[in-house]
Amino acid sequence: MKPQFSVDVILAQVIIENLYKSYASPKGKFSDSNDLSLGVVTSASTEKLEPQKKVLNTNVLKGINLEIQEGEFMVLVGPSGCGKSTLLRLIAGLEEISAGKIIIGDRTVNDLPPKSRDIAMVFQNYALYPHLKVYDNIAFGLRRMNPTQVEKKSLISTDKIIGNLSRALPTRWHYLSAQEKIIQEKVYQVAQLLEIDHLLDRLPKQLSGGQKQRVALGRAIARNPQTFLMDEPLSNLDAKLRTQTRSQIVKLQKQLQVTTIYVTHDQTEAMTMGDRIAIMNNGEIQQVATPLEVYHRPANKFVAQFIGSPPMNFMEVNWQKPNLIIHDSFNLSLPQQWLEIMGNYNYEKVYLGIRPEHFYLTTKEEASIPVIVNLVESLGNETLITANLENKPQQNLQVRIFSEQIINIGQTIYLGINLKKVSLFDFYQGKNVINNNDYISLDNKNN
Ligand SMILES: Nc1ncnc2c1ncn2[C@@H]1O[C@H](COP(=O)(O)OP(=O)(O)O)[C@@H](O)[C@H]1O
Ligand SMILES: [Mg+2]
Repeated sequence: MKPQFSVDVILAQVIIENLYKSYASPKGKFSDSNDLSLGVVTSASTEKLEPQKKVLNTNVLKGINLEIQEGEFMVLVGPSGCGKSTLLRLIAGLEEISAGKIIIGDRTVNDLPPKSRDIAMVFQNYALYPHLKVYDNIAFGLRRMNPTQVEKKSLISTDKIIGNLSRALPTRWHYLSAQEKIIQEKVYQVAQLLEIDHLLDRLPKQLSGGQKQRVALGRAIARNPQTFLMDEPLSNLDAKLRTQTRSQIVKLQKQLQVTTIYVTHDQTEAMTMGDRIAIMNNGEIQQVATPLEVYHRPANKFVAQFIGSPPMNFMEVNWQKPNLIIHDSFNLSLPQQWLEIMGNYNYEKVYLGIRPEHFYLTTKEEASIPVIVNLVESLGNETLITANLENKPQQNLQVRIFSEQIINIGQTIYLGINLKKVSLFDFYQGKNVINNNDYISLDNKNN
């Protein structure tokens, strides 16, 4: 076993293999209980049931595979209800898995209780003990650790009792047992790291939200775990504090190098914090990659619309073999290089994806798409425009421009597309059809 109070970092990989989680429906019973034990409720098994006993979708996680490297900051991001917290709780051991395998460091932890997994969790609601001072909140986890790590068992007894009694006094008057001395050193060290050393004598109710969150972080760090698990830890903070704490956590993690799994529904947090991001939807991982890769090469339409704000624009266009993309407002011709890839694309329709910043303002005379402006948001450094296609008003486009030009609501403007940056998505499965889209040329139907 590693010494619990050493500052040495034990680098641990976290590997998740084919993980399933289902919840039994409270309303119905399964006709075949084997399905439940495997965590796989197939439609075939639900069909066997009486209609009134049909099991609703109870598969919360469906075959999650994820490898988190030693010391990596991995962000799990996805819409509310997609299974992020469930996945984190399974890794922590707070709930039982239905099928699959979880490995932390060199151990399979499937059957280990949370306290044996060498993890520390930080939650959105801080989960501080309200009747304990900051000092004792940070020390709490350390005191619960196996005392043989810090002192001989024989030292506990009266020494410890006196120590407990003196805890009601201000921190500097505490009577310190041998174990407490080591704990105190650790608490001070962590408090300094988080700049909360002046708060050690306060109760949680005497702290601001940001301070509470730092205490919660401190408690996790003090335990020196192999892995941090954080579930939306910044959600209760106001916008400015959130941004600050965001960068503090990243800095700390780089300093401590503890493997971290961080859950958020906020794509900005994901993009700014993660070494890599795992985007989840509906109990499945959609893509695992670096922030820039995810942004520039989204694996599918879901990822493309989830990452980026405002989101990517999608237009339903016709695909005409061998090389033509046809929209009511414009045509795109694909160059030779793409024909091989698109040769396998057999549907008549495809989604064209364009990020807001990949439009630019141009003139009627150039190859362009005429749109009518219906909202202008000037943010100073950039302007966000919502507009509708002139000849297809139900199609809404979000456009980001970096120009001082005054644009008014109701005005017709002409948009060009940065063709090197567009994406194409399979019309039915939503998969990114072409990632390497360097060579499209645009013909304007209006010319
Ligand atoms: N104890 C439970 N029993 C039944 N369903 C649950 C339970 N816990 C979570 N779920 C369901 O699992 C899904 C994923 O929940 P959760 O992991 O909390 O999502 P997220 O954290 O991504 O918002 C949700 O649809 C939720 O309703
Ligand atoms: Mg959650």
